[in-house]
Amino acid sequence: MCGIVGILGLTAAVPRLMDSLKRLEYRGYDSAGVATVSNVELGRRRAPGKLSALADVLAATPLEGNSGIGHTRWATHGEPTINNAHPHMTDRVAIVHNGIIENFKALKDELTATGVSFEGDTDTEVVAQLMTSYLNDGSSPRDAFSQTLSRLQGAFALCVLIKGEDNLMFGAREGSPLVVGLGDGENYLGSDAMALAGLSNQLIYLEEGDWVELTRNQFQIYRADNSPVDRDVSFSQVAATMIDKGNHRHFMQKEIYEQPTVVAQALGRYLDPINGCVKLPDISFDLAAVPKITLVACGTSFYAAQVARYWIEQIARVPVDVDIASEFRYRDPVYTDGGLAIFISQSGETMDTLSALRHAKAAGQHIASIVNVLGSTMARESDLVMPIHAGPEVGVASTKAFTCQLAVLAAFTVQLASANGAINETQVANYVAELEHAPALMAKILSADAQIEAIAQDIAGARDILFVGRGIYYPIAMEGALKLKEISYIHAEGYAAGELKHGPIALIDDNVPVIGIAPKGVLSEKTVSNLQEIMARKGKVVLFSDDETPPAGMYAHVSMPSAGDLISPILYALPVQLLAYYAAVEKGTDVDMPRNLAKSVTVE
Ligand code: AGP
Repeated sequence: MCGIVGILGLTAAVPRLMDSLKRLEYRGYDSAGVATVSNVELGRRRAPGKLSALADVLAATPLEGNSGIGHTRWATHGEPTINNAHPHMTDRVAIVHNGIIENFKALKDELTATGVSFEGDTDTEVVAQLMTSYLNDGSSPRDAFSQTLSRLQGAFALCVLIKGEDNLMFGAREGSPLVVGLGDGENYLGSDAMALAGLSNQLIYLEEGDWVELTRNQFQIYRADNSPVDRDVSFSQVAATMIDKGNHRHFMQKEIYEQPTVVAQALGRYLDPINGCVKLPDISFDLAAVPKITLVACGTSFYAAQVARYWIEQIARVPVDVDIASEFRYRDPVYTDGGLAIFISQSGETMDTLSALRHAKAAGQHIASIVNVLGSTMARESDLVMPIHAGPEVGVASTKAFTCQLAVLAAFTVQLASANGAINETQVANYVAELEHAPALMAKILSADAQIEAIAQDIAGARDILFVGRGIYYPIAMEGALKLKEISYIHAEGYAAGELKHGPIALIDDNVPVIGIAPKGVLSEKTVSNLQEIMARKGKVVLFSDDETPPAGMYAHVSMPSAGDLISPILYALPVQLLAYYAAVEKGTDVDMPRNLAKSVTVE
């Protein structure tokens, strides 16, 4: 996903723009650029690749000016070349954009017919040329910007500078988030709170269709119909200091080891251990009367939803559907009147999940979201928001957000079961006590990571790796496979252990390690026997379990602490995260920014 930052400052813009773009790297990108207004003139520097390449260009050809815009581009239309890198410029405007202009081809043809020529093949360049045409026709900057917006279809966050106007900047939000940051004699625009963390903590999240005109000391927000509107100022929790690796080698490593702390703080917002009960945010509907729950998400968040289905159906006895967001609305789901649809998203901006939310909302479902970003679009469009309080998650591979999602889903399950009478007060208190114990057990697991590191180094050369589990550990197996493949680029798949004999076991040989997730319980014996079938075929089996006497012949057994069924899935997320992390380190991949991936995908 692209990243945007704009500064109307009192000091040199370029160093500050680069700092903000550095904080936006986690979103994933393949080119970057900045533009400034200096002594009337617009200047621009761009480079394909990482920010270091842009820094080299700026060192060779510095850019002056206290007003500037910057961009990290994740290619959608057009290759990651310098010509397609943002900012896009004409002789009158410089513009950066996040999203997709769906009618850019028709607009490009219209402009080409008037003699306009284009240097690249992006939709963004069309916007720059369109606004320039209005300026050339004599429109004021404000009118030219609003006229341009009225012609655009699709999803976009835009930030624009005008030649000769070093105290003027425009921004717009339609489908892709954009935030106004307020300073002292300065004002800013950014894709999110992270972009503005080093500049401002007084933020205004633009709503869908909003656009804004800023100077250093003033700003005015307008609705899509150009009527002025006031939006609330919120205070960002994201301080610049939170966004650094500390003494860790990667953000992902830092975020793995933060989990005991952040899960404890998440639980602290939902549990009342003194009274042995759960406290959810205010709910505008009767939770006890909810006849059915639909859980919708993508990627790792989808696996959190899969885990939650087991909890909700087994503990609260409420039927649950779980859907991959990008498939959800296309199956034309049959909604149950009065049903609750819950959308799980670390970023709160994933377009697949947001589109599914809007589909369920239009169908009259109660809407809840479980997000890590309070000002996110999903949060703002939900009846009930359950924040996960994981703090900024910078690594593209989700780790602490996943376990915090699970912690919140577990607390929600207990409250739902209590509200509909499926469990009594004593059972509630027991579940609360069990949840309270999770952070300590997580810390214990992380302290024994050396064995997992050694296993990871040994299997990092594998071509394929299978993760298997039964019941609630099946989603954990799938999450382990996703973690491994997305950062180490090793092909991995998660399977229900009982499914191996129905085909996948044909893959097994001594080059295909199998990771078994099987804490002691009703299903562990069956899982272990599935693993023994693998060992009988020379498969290399690594078993994560709390079984003190694991079966002979395992390549490795990683001992886990014994825990209750409610928190065990949260605990077993840790070893599969560590396995993926150390395998990726062994392979030398870009752990925090894996190839082709973005932290949040705001396109469908
Ligand atoms: C997780 O490691 C991946 N980076 C990815 O699957 C992610 O979980 C997915 O894109 C959903 O993102 P969200 O939680 O922000 O909606």
